[in-house]
Amino acid sequence: MNDRPQRNGDTEDPMRGRPDRKPVIAQMLAHRSIRKYTTRMPSDRTIKTIVRAGQQAAFAAQLYSVILTKDRAKHPFQAPLLFTVCVDFHKMGQIMKRRGWKWVSNDLYGLLLGIQDAACMAQNMVLAAESLGLGTCFLGHTPFAADQLAKEFKLPQRVFPLVQVAMGYPAEKPPARPRYPMDFVLFEKRYPRIAGAQLRRAMKTMDDGYLAQGYYRNVKLMLPLVTGQKETFDFDTYSWTEHISRKWGQWEKSPKRLRDLMGRRGLKV
Ligand SMILES: Cc1cc2nc3c(=O)[nH]c(=O)nc-3n(C[C@H](O)[C@H](O)[C@H](O)COP(=O)(O)O)c2cc1C
Repeated sequence: MNDRPQRNGDTEDPMRGRPDRKPVIAQMLAHRSIRKYTTRMPSDRTIKTIVRAGQQAAFAAQLYSVILTKDRAKHPFQAPLLFTVCVDFHKMGQIMKRRGWKWVSNDLYGLLLGIQDAACMAQNMVLAAESLGLGTCFLGHTPFAADQLAKEFKLPQRVFPLVQVAMGYPAEKPPARPRYPMDFVLFEKRYPRIAGAQLRRAMKTMDDGYLAQGYYRNVKLMLPLVTGQKETFDFDTYSWTEHISRKWGQWEKSPKRLRDLMGRRGLKV
């Protein structure tokens, strides 16, 4: 591994200037989420290529299904395509029934593997789509819409909507969003103490990166303080580490809502 100290931007293009650079890595490093789309509808052939590439992801048990809708008017960002990626225990249950087996494994175990199956598949779809000139955006709120999506898509019991992926041809070219420096992600042999200069550098990389792009100012987004504390940030200071802390420091304290949603879908967690 390279021992050179990390500077801002080091994570942006580690393959720059390397003659052995592979097109697939260039594609991965060009990733940006897209939140503005043209009205152009991808062809069926393009859609099938993307889904087929998604399917070839590694799997534990293919515990997923994907529902496609093409109703721009109803989709986030008016994207032409919306894929609802579900963790699916129903199909496996049917296979097992035919084989004379009953599902006895606990659903937490099933979920851990099913989420990985679904996420690997979705990310492969995203990469394939981007390689064909399309843009994508994951939508993480999906589990909270499980009741409504189950009704809309007639999902059988034991199928749980995990994440949605908006897709279409991009109508914007956003800059690359920052990532942590690699020394905050990859730990060789042992996990370090997360403190001091390394922690400050990681936070600064993220915050300076988002501030330089004017990200939260442009989207006019500052998560409110639900405790009634006085706001001390403005768009010159509010950045990613404060934003993400406000989520994990305020939202969904109790697991009850998610457990109930999963329970209504036939999952026991
Ligand atoms: C699981 C997951 C859920 C996400 N949910 C949302 C979302 O609800 N809305 C949104 O605009 N972006 C969402 N994103 C996109 C992230 O905001 C985006 O990937 C991140 O800010 C980094 O930016 P980039 O993808 O352009 O590099 C999600 C991404 C993932 C992987």
